[in-house]
Amino acid sequence: MTTIHDPITLAGAKLPNRLVKAAMSEALCGRDGLPNAELIQLYKTWADSSMGMLITGNVMVDPAALGEPGNCVIEADTPLEPIKAWSAAAKSAGSACVVQISHPGKQAPKGLNKQTVGPSAVPFSKEMQAFFATPKELSVDEIAVLVERFADTAARCEAGGFDGVQIHGAHGYLVSAFLSPKHNIREDNYGGSIENRMRFLTEIVTAIRAKTEEGFVLGVKLNSADFQRGGFSEEDSTTVIQKLESMGVDFVEVSGGTYEAPAMTGVKSSTKAREAYFLEFAEKLRAQTKIKLMVTGGFRTQPAMDAALASGALDLIGVARPLAIEPDVADRWLEGKTPKHEIKPIKTHLPPVDNAGLLEIFWYAAQFKDMGQGKAPNPKLSPYKVLFHYVKGNIKAMIKGGKKKPSRLRAK
Ligand SMILES: Cc1cc2nc3c(=O)[nH]c(=O)nc-3n(C[C@H](O)[C@H](O)[C@H](O)COP(=O)(O)O)c2cc1C
Repeated sequence: MTTIHDPITLAGAKLPNRLVKAAMSEALCGRDGLPNAELIQLYKTWADSSMGMLITGNVMVDPAALGEPGNCVIEADTPLEPIKAWSAAAKSAGSACVVQISHPGKQAPKGLNKQTVGPSAVPFSKEMQAFFATPKELSVDEIAVLVERFADTAARCEAGGFDGVQIHGAHGYLVSAFLSPKHNIREDNYGGSIENRMRFLTEIVTAIRAKTEEGFVLGVKLNSADFQRGGFSEEDSTTVIQKLESMGVDFVEVSGGTYEAPAMTGVKSSTKAREAYFLEFAEKLRAQTKIKLMVTGGFRTQPAMDAALASGALDLIGVARPLAIEPDVADRWLEGKTPKHEIKPIKTHLPPVDNAGLLEIFWYAAQFKDMGQGKAPNPKLSPYKVLFHYVKGNIKAMIKGGKKKPSRLRAK
C-alpha cells in the first residue's frame, strides 16, 4: 500500500516522497517582480523541509495583471540569474520544484492594476464591490496574447532550472473564471459548453508543450467546483480532467472555491472528520481517470494522509498552511508524529474582509516575510495588526480605485 514515504516520478522529476507543498503566494517581491533575497531565503528553508516537491506561490505571467502587491512576475525576457538562484535554493536538498503560473483575472484588489480583465464583465457580489472592480471582457486577440504569455513564462522557468510549472486553474482566477459559467457568459468559442469554456486552458497547455522540452513537468490546479450557484460543477471538473489526461498533462491538483466562496481554506463539518476537504471528489474521479491526482486542503496528520494514499484515490498529498508556521513539519509526519501547531482560521469578524480571504493571504505573507529574513514564523500574530497595516498602506487606492498603486505589504 502506498504511504507518504514512497517516491514517485512526474515526467522528468523524481520526488523522494508523496508530500507536496501547495502554492502559497509569498508576496515578497519588489516592484520589479524579480525573485529576491527574501524569496530565495524562504525557499532555502522549505528546501530543507523534506517535502517531495515544492510548488511555488503564484507567479504572474503579466506585469499589468498582479494578484497582490509583491507578486513575482516572470516573462519571456526576465533575467535568468534571479530565477536560477531561486530554483537552485528550492532544489538544494533533493525536492523537486514546480512554479505555479497565474493570471488573477478580476480577483485583484482595486487600484493594484490599471484595469482588471475577465472572460466577461461579470461584477462581484455587492459586499465585495468595495474591494474588487468589475473586469473588462477580453477580446479574442487579447486571449491569444495571454495564452502565449503563459507559454513564455513556462519556457523561462524551464531555462531558469525549475522542474516544471503548474497552471493555476482554480480559485476564481482567470483560467478558473473562463471555466465557470457564472463568470464566463461569452457567446463565442470561449463560452457556453464546457468544451468552449475550457478552450483557454487547453490552448495554454498546448502552447506550453510547444515551448518546453519533454520531461518538463506540467500540472494544473483545478477546482472540484466553485461552490457558487450556477458555477463550475463537479461534472464540468471531471470533463476537464479527462481532457487534460488525454493531452498528457502530468498531474492535476484538486482544490475548490473562489474569493466569493473560499472553500479552499474552509472546513465543512461533513469532511472535517476526514481532514481533506476534496477527498470525496477525488474518490469519484479515480473511477474516471488515471491521471496523477493531488488533493490539497485540510490534510494535517500522517494517518489521514496514509489512509488517503492507501485508498488509491490520489497519488500526492498537498499541504499549504502548516508549512507557513512550521516549516519542518514534514519531518514530523515522516516520523509518524503530529504537528506542533494547529491551523486556525484567521478572522477579523468583519464579514467582507473575512469572506474575501485576502486577510488570510496577508497574515501568512507576514510569516513568509519573517522566514525570508531568516527568522522563525509567529503562529500568534494578531490578524487585526495585519489588517490595520494593509488598510493604512492602501486606503487611498481603495477609495479612488486605480489612481494609486497599493503599497508593498507591511504586515508587521
Ligand atoms: C497565504 C496563502 C496563499 C495562497 N496562495 C495560493 C496560490 O498562490 N496559489 C494557489 O493555488 N493556492 C494558494 N493558496 C491555497 C493553498 O494552496 C491551499 O489550496 C489551501 O491553503 C488549502 O490547503 P491547506 O489546508 O493545506 O492550507 C494559498 C493559501 C494561503 C493560506
